[in-house]
Order: sequence, then C-alpha cells, then structure tokens
Amino acid sequence: MKNILVTGGAGFIGSNFVRYLLEGNPDCRVINLDLLTYAGNLANLEAVQNHPRYHFVKGGICDRNLVDDLFCSYYIDTVVNFAAESHVDRSIAEPEVFLTTNIIGTQALLDIAKKYWKVHPDDKYSREFIPGVKFLQVSTDEVYGALGETGMFIETTPLAPNSPYSASKASADMIVRAYYETFGLPVNITRCSNNYGPYQFPEKLIPLMINNCQCDKSLPVYGDGRQVRDWLHVKDHCAAVYNVLAKGVAGEVYNIGGNNEKANIEIVRLILQAMGKDESLITHVQDRPGHDRRYAIDNTKITTQLGWQPSYTFEQGIAETISWYLQNSDWMKQVTSGEYCKYYDRMYTMEEKELSCQGSE
Ligand SMILES: NC(=O)c1ccc[n+]([C@@H]2O[C@H](COP(=O)([O-])OP(=O)(O)OC[C@H]3O[C@@H](n4cnc5c(N)ncnc54)[C@H](O)[C@@H]3O)[C@@H](O)[C@H]2O)c1
Repeated sequence: MKNILVTGGAGFIGSNFVRYLLEGNPDCRVINLDLLTYAGNLANLEAVQNHPRYHFVKGGICDRNLVDDLFCSYYIDTVVNFAAESHVDRSIAEPEVFLTTNIIGTQALLDIAKKYWKVHPDDKYSREFIPGVKFLQVSTDEVYGALGETGMFIETTPLAPNSPYSASKASADMIVRAYYETFGLPVNITRCSNNYGPYQFPEKLIPLMINNCQCDKSLPVYGDGRQVRDWLHVKDHCAAVYNVLAKGVAGEVYNIGGNNEKANIEIVRLILQAMGKDESLITHVQDRPGHDRRYAIDNTKITTQLGWQPSYTFEQGIAETISWYLQNSDWMKQVTSGEYCKYYDRMYTMEEKELSCQGSE
C-alpha cells in the first residue's frame, strides 16, 4: 500500500485529489498536510474525514520537524505537493509569502524526501533511491509566461514567468529539477492550465462570478476581458496527476490541459446566460498589472505517452459546476463570510463603490 503525503489537501485541487484517491484507489493511505490558510477548508473534505485510510495534519510545509515526523510515522513513499499560495492578485499585493511557501516549502519537502528515500544517505555520489518512491510537484502553465494570438506551450518552452506567483512556481520547478539532476531523486513536474469545478475559493473567476450572479451583484471583469485561458475540469486534473504518479518517467515534466481556450468575458457571459441574468451586471474594472494575455497548453506528451485524456467537455463541466455551487450555498456562505469580504473590498471596491458583501453573510 502506498503512503501518500498530499500537501495543501484542504484547498481546491488538493481536496478534489484526496477524494479522488480515497474514492477511487483502495491501495493507498492519504496523509493530508495543510496549514489551513484562508484558502484551506476542512469542509471540502467532510465526505472523507472519517475514512480509515485518511489522516489530516494541520501544519505547514516549511516546518521541517513536522514533515520529518510525518515521513517517519507514516512511512511516506509518495509526495504530491499542491500546497501553495495560489492567487496571482494576492502575489502582487504580498509577494513574500509566495516565495516562502512556494519555494522554501518545496525545498524543505524535497530535502526530507531525499533523507528518507535515499538508500545510502551518507554517500553523496549515490543516486540510488528506494524503489517506487516519487515526488510530484504540481505546477502551472503560468510558469511559461504569456502567448500571443497563436502557439501553445510545450514542456520545453522556456520559463518566462510574469507575476510573483508564477515566478515562485517557476523557481520551485527549478529546484525540483535540480534535485533530480543533482541527487537522482525520482520527481515529476506537472504543469496544468486553469482548473474549474467544485470547492474552488471564490476569489477565482468562475466561483466569484457564480456567487456574484446569485447575489445580483456586479461582475467585475478585468480590462476588456479578452484574456484567454485553457480550462480543465478539476477531476480531469486529478486523474492526470494520478496518471503521472503511476506512469510518469522520473525527471520528466508533463503539461496538462483540456484544449479548451476561452476568453474570460466568454465565461462570464456563459455563466450569466446559464443563470438567467442580464449582461448589465458586467462591470469592467482596471486590469491587473502585468496580466498575461493568453495561455494555451499542448497536451500531446501526456496524452500520447501516458494515455491520459480529459473526460469532461467544457459545456458539461461548467453546467455541473454552476449547479454544484447553487446546490452548495451553505459552503459558499461559509467561505465568503469574514475575511473574504475584506479581501473583496480591497480588490474591487476602489473601482466599484457600489459593491458590498452584504449578500454573503
Ligand atoms: N487553481 C488552478 O487553476 C491551478 C492550475 C494549475 C496549477 N495549480 C497549482 O495547484 C496547486 C493547488 O492549487 P489550488 O487552486 O487548489 O490552490 P488553493 O489556494 O485552493 O489551495 C492551496 C492549499 O494550500 C494550503 N497551504 C498554503 N500554504 C501552505 C503551507 N505553507 N503548508 C501547507 N499547506 C499550505 C492552503 O491552506 C490551501 O489548502 C497549487 O500549487 C497551484 O499552483 C493551480
């Protein structure tokens, strides 16, 4: 049985991945290490909280003593590192915590994995690791920077991150790569496009727009809204990560994407239409500084070499996602109370004095 340390497992993708593992794969134990920042929420995991193969530990990936204890107590043989500060806007306001968690935290995990998994720990030239161990770094397409009207990111596209968030993720990718090149630690890096689906914190485009629509509040759209992203359902991302865990060749990077490019404004219109609301709710606000214009992922490597394919069409996935948020209004109310209101005011009310979070209490 695998003993999988999932970090950041109380966040959006991490919690979907924990459920994916426990509901789908009987042959693993899941240890979820999460600091429970504003983005971490144990309500995301209520369905599995008493599962016999699930253990939650509150704590941070920078806490080396704690991570060391977990490796020792749970015989960790696999790490899937989702833990991160993940929101570009917050990285513009407060970059430092992004560097600490996303880079230093990743390096702490790598060090401890190397210590426990190396067959001859005292031999600095030995590249022998216990068979079957793996460190999987969950990264993002944003590390490649922005594209023009055409072209797609492939795994060898040079990294050119433009925000403090993407720069911190690119740095983490580099240090993960270095642990493979220098020590031979079996690693994979996955770089995925924008995810959508249940349990996403409503600072991100899709749940924010659904929530505002439901409360009949303005929908703040950055600039002209023509920023293009490739969208993938979170469950397809989880399946892809699992595929790379099981079959990925050590040292390799795998892009993950759904071949589904959409401009932000298209998504906003689609949500308005699906929820029967009027386009007059759209308010264009000043664009984010350095906002990347277009991302697009070429997923040929993972589809041809590992046999992964996305299972959701965007139309099916977005319809299910809207229904999920509407059916889980208590979850939305919980995450949009308190701190979220202050954040929302900081981000958007400068441009939109009329907005308030009253509907979210
Ligand atoms: N959301 C996307 O569209 C997307 C796309 C590609 C890649 N990614 C990557 O996937 C990962 C997960 O993204 P997400 O959208 O689920 O993020 P999220 O912000 O929803 O969740 C992050 C989780 O990490 C936890 N965390 C933060 N700092 C921590 C620390 N020091 N120690 C332990 N836990 C900590 C938080 O409490 C939270 O539960 C990130 O690494 C992100 O870069 C996200």
